[in-house]
Amino acid sequence: MPANTIDHNRARYNFDGIDSVWLFGYGSLIYKVDFPYLEQRPASIRDWARRFWQGSHDHRGTPESPGRVVTLIEQPGAVCKGMAYRVSPKVFEYLDVREKNGYLRFSTTMTFDNGSHAEGLVYIATEDNEAFLGEAPEADIARQIALASGPSGANSEYLLRLAESLRALGDDCCHTFAIESHLHNVASTDCFDR
Ligand code: SIN
Repeated sequence: MPANTIDHNRARYNFDGIDSVWLFGYGSLIYKVDFPYLEQRPASIRDWARRFWQGSHDHRGTPESPGRVVTLIEQPGAVCKGMAYRVSPKVFEYLDVREKNGYLRFSTTMTFDNGSHAEGLVYIATEDNEAFLGEAPEADIARQIALASGPSGANSEYLLRLAESLRALGDDCCHTFAIESHLHNVASTDCFDR
């Protein structure tokens, strides 16, 4: 799978005759909502876990110094909370460009807070994409995040804004919170060293 997934995503779904589609966001799509939507609702999906295992060469890092951003890894029994948006299919023309560094659209069943379900689309960067970095100790992930920055800003901002949004949603994402805590340690060690 090439790192640029725009063409793959455009060939994946035919939206003919469809007025609106649910999109499930679990990373920056929770807090950076730079696209129009018709409706927004907190939701969750089952059997997927959020992990900082995807490289970011275009938003929160560079080809020389990639950042780390989240993708979803299959994990039976896991629950991943996020935000669902009902959008016009046209919005995917923009989102496919924004999420082009390895993410493919998959369909998923979302559960809203009132227990009702709906089918939606979710962007997942699978491990066969060129930008996939994979598992690493959470302290090492924090150190990489502390150093990386790209056209969309500092990688640390991505992590901190995501952690803040997950707290607001009531998601107990131990992985994200552990990396956030390591990031604070990296920052205070840097101060101490100076
Ligand atoms: C998402 O937010 O749903 C996908 C990953 C990202 O853009 O951070």
